[in-house]
Amino acid sequence: MATRKSGPAAHPAADASTVAVFQDTWTLYRKVVENNYLCHREAYGALHDALTGRGRSPFRFLDIACGDATASADALQGTAVAHYRGMDFSTQALELAAAALAGLGCHVVLEEGDFLDLVPNRRDIADVVWMGLSLHHLQQPDKLAFMRHVRSALAPGGSFLIYENSLRPDEDRDGWMRRWDEQRPSWTAFSEPEWDTVTGHVHAADYPETTETWHRLGHEAGFSRAAHVLTTQTELFSVYRFDT
Ligand SMILES: C[S@@+](CC[C@H](N)C(=O)[O-])C[C@H]1O[C@@H](n2cnc3c(N)ncnc32)[C@H](O)[C@@H]1O
Repeated sequence: MATRKSGPAAHPAADASTVAVFQDTWTLYRKVVENNYLCHREAYGALHDALTGRGRSPFRFLDIACGDATASADALQGTAVAHYRGMDFSTQALELAAAALAGLGCHVVLEEGDFLDLVPNRRDIADVVWMGLSLHHLQQPDKLAFMRHVRSALAPGGSFLIYENSLRPDEDRDGWMRRWDEQRPSWTAFSEPEWDTVTGHVHAADYPETTETWHRLGHEAGFSRAAHVLTTQTELFSVYRFDT
């Protein structure tokens, strides 16, 4: 059974659309994931490969902004995970996460609160940290500050993997948003109001970076190695890996 810990209330700086999409209407996000519109299958497949690549040594896994942890639970199957810690400010998502993680057979701790409050000042709490589709809510200096906190929370030899919005070389945020908007015809399972809710959040809260910038942030945060693991088929997202 999962241990639940309530942290501080949602950060006042969290964008209103982020709260609306992830705290009030989780079912809509489930529909996005189930239709693979954000390429979860590729991203979490890469996470699974990275975790099995560690061999059979038990590891502690920290899932920042874990949501309902469904994709993480799948990615962790067949790995040597010994301890799972998830963090999110959505009560609804964490209730689903407890159920999704029950079959993993390792100790599970779920912390409810804002990751900007929960991660700083933690030392050696994980061997692998994963953050799926959430670091992009921060502006560049805040991304860097947060990545430094993640670096400190990792054990020696640990890795930080992110699945994030990524710009093409020389593309700016407006260019990325234009490419996002061009996805509309392929979101056939979504009504116009559903698409508008998700797209309104993306336009309000997402700040993608180029691969070059993600790598630079990783090095400035104190990681010794930064690697580009994959770019999704839509070329809107990438997985990066930073080693201590
Ligand atoms: C796009 S979902 C990603 C969920 C999952 N990681 C995935 O890859 O599908 C964003 C998640 O981040 C959470 N979130 C966003 N900002 C947060 C914050 N500042 N603190 C804690 N959780 C946050 C939301 O509640 C939501 O579960």
